[in-house]
Amino acid sequence: MAADLTTTFTGIRFDNPFLLASAPPTESESNIMRAFEAGWGGVVTKTVGLHPVVNVKGPKTKFLRADAESYKLSMKRRPNTALHSSWNWELISDKTIDWWLPRIENIKKAYPNKVLIASIMAGSGNDKELHNWQELAKAVQERGADGIELNFSCPHMDRVDMGSNVGKDKVLCSVVTMAVKEVAKIPVWVKLTPATANIVEEAEASFRGGADAISSSNTFPSLPLIDLETLEFEMNVEGYVSSGGLGGPAILPLSLAKMSQLTRAFPDKAFSGIGGVATFEHALNYFLLGCGTVQVCTAAMLDSAIGPNVIKALNGGMAEFMERRGYANLEEFRGMRRDRIVPHSQIKRPDQLEYHGGYQDEAVEGYAKPEVPVTA
Ligand SMILES: Cc1cc2nc3c(=O)[nH]c(=O)nc-3n(C[C@H](O)[C@H](O)[C@H](O)COP(=O)(O)O)c2cc1C
Repeated sequence: MAADLTTTFTGIRFDNPFLLASAPPTESESNIMRAFEAGWGGVVTKTVGLHPVVNVKGPKTKFLRADAESYKLSMKRRPNTALHSSWNWELISDKTIDWWLPRIENIKKAYPNKVLIASIMAGSGNDKELHNWQELAKAVQERGADGIELNFSCPHMDRVDMGSNVGKDKVLCSVVTMAVKEVAKIPVWVKLTPATANIVEEAEASFRGGADAISSSNTFPSLPLIDLETLEFEMNVEGYVSSGGLGGPAILPLSLAKMSQLTRAFPDKAFSGIGGVATFEHALNYFLLGCGTVQVCTAAMLDSAIGPNVIKALNGGMAEFMERRGYANLEEFRGMRRDRIVPHSQIKRPDQLEYHGGYQDEAVEGYAKPEVPVTA
């Protein structure tokens, strides 16, 4: 029997649980249509806003590669290297909402059974900006978007009231989500930044505002490296650089750590895993931690711009895995390894009886006796 890759996530039915993340692969109608033809279950559009967007001069994204035979890491193209990461300082879509709306409508008319999530962003801190979030949400849902993703996560916005600066503020996470939920008739996902002390707090605030799912991670704040010969940053404009976002293989373990915090804190909520996925083996990590869908950006950018081979390998790998293991659907293995992540003190020690969670065995005056670690 062929494996059933279909899934329902936040009430939306998907052919398969794989989406192109909000980024260059989903920045145009033709890319999105090609992506659906190639087999992606869904796309999250490049983020759309109402404010003017002007990107930096020169390249917006480059790829950092590692030499196989040495520790060299560089953005320079050279043989015998493996992809380490993507680095970008691209802003949200520089196309207006009026450019996007007829395209969203066309795409949904052409592919009614494929999922289109519209990523949106506005500012914060005043009623006008809250109203902008609502305007964007109403506009994309009227044109047929299946869901909305709120971008609280871009790490390098030129405006301080936007992107990850919203995602770093729990009150804003709640207030903006609530404002969008007031007008949304379709599911609302919130894409959080990984650049906070405890992502569980921003997720809690977003859920309190009514979020139907959390997507994580966006890229991690980072700098390009300095070239040994020129002493210039490998990416710069007239010598100057600013913090940008790291994506791709390097962030897979980092994003998984963020996701495991989220899925353990909210085992009954919906999560879309992002970060470093190129193969089914990578995606499986997110599913086993409890995610219901997985999104891909960097790997797709490097595969004919929309990842035709990546999605083929994701779908093929998942079907093969399910058939080999006898799973009928994703729900049968989703979250299976979520509870294997425990506090350090609960990892078994060689002499378990002598171990007291890193504390002395005797109680300190005025304090309770240390808890003996749980041993399974
Ligand atoms: C060039 C580039 C542009 C991006 N633009 C957006 C964006 O507009 N909105 C958004 O939510 N995320 C954006 N992202 C973040 C990706 O959607 C994704 O969260 C991140 O790249 C991690 O996934 P990856 O490791 O598969 O690349 C962008 C990433 C890159 C590399």
